[in-house]
Amino acid sequence: MYAALRSVGAYVPSKILTNHDLERLVDTSDEWITKRTGIKTRHIAAPDESTSDLGVQASRKALQRAGLEPEEIDLLICATISPDYFCMPSTACMIAKKLGISNVPALDISAACSGFIYALATAKAYVESGMAQNVLIVGAEKLSAIVDWSDRTTCILFGDGAGAAVIGGTREREEAIRDVNISADGKYYDYLITPGCGTERPCSEEVVKERACFIKMKGNETFKVAVKTLTSDVVDLLEKNGVESQEITYFVPHQANYRILSAVANSLGLRDEQCVITVDKYGNTSSASIPMALNDLYEERRLQKGDLLLLDAFGGGFTWGSALLPFSPRE
Ligand code: UT7
Repeated sequence: MYAALRSVGAYVPSKILTNHDLERLVDTSDEWITKRTGIKTRHIAAPDESTSDLGVQASRKALQRAGLEPEEIDLLICATISPDYFCMPSTACMIAKKLGISNVPALDISAACSGFIYALATAKAYVESGMAQNVLIVGAEKLSAIVDWSDRTTCILFGDGAGAAVIGGTREREEAIRDVNISADGKYYDYLITPGCGTERPCSEEVVKERACFIKMKGNETFKVAVKTLTSDVVDLLEKNGVESQEITYFVPHQANYRILSAVANSLGLRDEQCVITVDKYGNTSSASIPMALNDLYEERRLQKGDLLLLDAFGGGFTWGSALLPFSPRE
């Protein structure tokens, strides 16, 4: 049995925060944000919308497009760094409850911006080993809840949203996910971190005062490792699978910064029409960015059966990963 990408879906909260809005919050400018990141707007969830609410909306679309009822899912994986609850229950359990899925495993994956590719690798392994038939994978983030809105170096980057995909079993080799690579290096743990409110520094008045429960990033250092790691990772994946970059229909990278994804795209010699860019409108939505971008392609009717996709992502940990797969909806 092989594993195949059957469908995608996404949900974007309606509220839009522009760079000009941010100029009123912190000492920044539309010009700086646009030039350094490529971001123009990001979406922000409503106060009564949780991460699982975003994930449920995305999941419903992915399920409907796969032609599946929720009870046909036999594994639910949610990648997130902004869970509904601090320790438990998992956001996957909350999504399962809201979708009416019970008595199947539901688990969260904590791999920051690489979470969707980690979830894809896990789903592939479950399907290929015969442990699952239809896996729902979700990348969902309400990053606005863990961003320090007084820190101009991070608050301009992030947005909220969710994306989902159904990974199903197939006996057709040409429908199969060709390869997924995931990796990590914990020596960079403090480059991108929420330092407070874990067991290392439990929640206290001091932690709250220091705003240590929010995202902190060594941006420039992270940028350099991201470009180097992602470039070698995608080159290795293509070489290993004997695929030329010109054979890729769409390169769908994690959307952290336009300069990062264009550096990787240039090193592969990709044409503009092969590169999917959504960072301008959604900002960095961490684990949700890749499935949200896939959903945009789908809803713009640009994603066709058999299109060959190259995904890549890099995030806190550091974690990273890449995947080579065709889009394989059932006829
Ligand atoms: O998704 C997971 C992985 N994440 C990433 O890969 C993100 C990686 N990092 C980045 O995307 C970029 O490093 C940033 C967009 C975060 C920052 O861009 P940069 O070109 O690396 O800028 P920088 O941090 O070197 O800062 C340059 C200057 C500094 O001023 P001085 O020290 O040169 O006077 C900053 O204080 O820009 C200043 N600055 C800002 N100015 C206006 C930092 N943030 C802002 C801001 N508005 N929002």
